[in-house]
Amino acid sequence: RKLAGITSVGHYLPEYRLTNSDLEEMVDTNDEWIRTRTGISERRILKDEGKATAFMGAKAAAEAIERRGIDADEIDVIIVATVTPDYLFPATACLVQEQIGANNAYGFDLSAACSGFLFALSNGANMIESGRAEKVLVIGADKMSSIVDYTDRSTCILFGDGAGAVLLEPTEDGTGIIDYIHHTEGDTNGTLYQPAGGSLNPASHDTVAERLHYAKQDGRTVFKKATVGMADVSAEIMEKNDLTAEDIAWLVPHQANLRIIDATANRMGLDSEKVMVNIDKYGNTTAATIPLCLYDWKDKLNHGDNLVLAAFGGGYTWGSIYMKW
Ligand code: ACO
Repeated sequence: RKLAGITSVGHYLPEYRLTNSDLEEMVDTNDEWIRTRTGISERRILKDEGKATAFMGAKAAAEAIERRGIDADEIDVIIVATVTPDYLFPATACLVQEQIGANNAYGFDLSAACSGFLFALSNGANMIESGRAEKVLVIGADKMSSIVDYTDRSTCILFGDGAGAVLLEPTEDGTGIIDYIHHTEGDTNGTLYQPAGGSLNPASHDTVAERLHYAKQDGRTVFKKATVGMADVSAEIMEKNDLTAEDIAWLVPHQANLRIIDATANRMGLDSEKVMVNIDKYGNTTAATIPLCLYDWKDKLNHGDNLVLAAFGGGYTWGSIYMKW
C-alpha cells in the first residue's frame, strides 16, 4: 500500500524571548505559578513590523524544501493550518506560495486551532495516497501574540509564535501516515474562541472597545476536556492498531500544558523519555507545536520508528495520528 511519509522538516522561531519574569512585569503572575501550572518558562514573539504568520510559515517551508534538496516548483499542494492568518482572505497558503516561489502549487488554509496540524497532515496524506499529489507541504504556523490579550493573565502566559513545516511524499516501504482518528464537537459554549473579527461580529468601535478580538478561554473547562480528549484518542489509536507502549518510540503531543501531556503519556503507559516536550521553550504555538517537536527531535528519530501524534484544541477539535517515521 502506498503511504505518505514525512521526508523533510523545517521550522521558524522568532528571536525575541518573552520570559516568565517579563510577564511578572505585565500582569499579576509569577514564574513559579506559570512553571508549575503549565511547564512554560519562555515563548518566542514575532516583533518584526510587516511580518506575520505567512512569513514564518514560508521560512519553515523553505527550510524543509532546502533540506530535501528539491525545487519549490515541484510542490503540488500547500496546506497551512492556522488560526492567525495574515488576512481573512486571501489564504495564508497563497502568501506562502508566492514567498517560496512554488509556482505549480495550489494551496489553502485549514482552521482547526491546536489540532490544525494533525488535520492538515491527514488531509495531505490522503492526497498522496490517492495519487492526486506527489509532494504536499503541510505547515502549522501561528502568530498567537496577534490575538493574545496581554492584560489577561489566564491566557497571555500560555501562547507563543512560531511555525513548522513538513514535506509529504509517497513511500513504498510501509513508513508514513498509517492511521488517524479525528473529532469535532462544536458545543463549546464560548469556552475557547475569538469572538470578533469574523462575519458574526465584524470589527467595529464596540468590538475593539470590548476587547473582543482577543482569544478568550475558560481555562479550567478546557483543561478538563483536553486532558480526557487527548488521552482517550491516543489510547484509542493504540488499541485500534494493536500497539503496546513498547511498540511506540515517541509520543508527539500538542504542547498546551505539561500536565495535559503527562496525563496522555500516563494513559498510554509511556515513560517520559518517550515524550517530546518543548513547551518550556516555546509555550503553546497552536498549530506549530507538533511540527516544531518533529524538527527539534529530527536527529533522534530512526527510520521506521512508531510515532503517535495527538492534539486537542479550539472547536473543540481533537485527534491522533499513528505513523512510522
Ligand atoms: N498567574 C497566577 N495566578 C493565576 C494565573 C496566572 N497567570 N492565571 C490564573 N490564576 C489564578 C486563577 O485566578 C485562580 O485563582 P482562584 O483560585 O483564586 O480563582 C487560580 O490561579 C487557579 O486558576 P485555574 O484556571 O483553575 O488554573 P489551572 O490550574 O486550570 O491553570 C491554565 C490554568 C494553565 C490556563 C489551565 O487551565 C490550562 O492549561 N488550560 C487548558 C489550555 C488549553 O489546552 N487550551 C487549548 C488549546 S488553545 C487553542 O486551541 C487556541
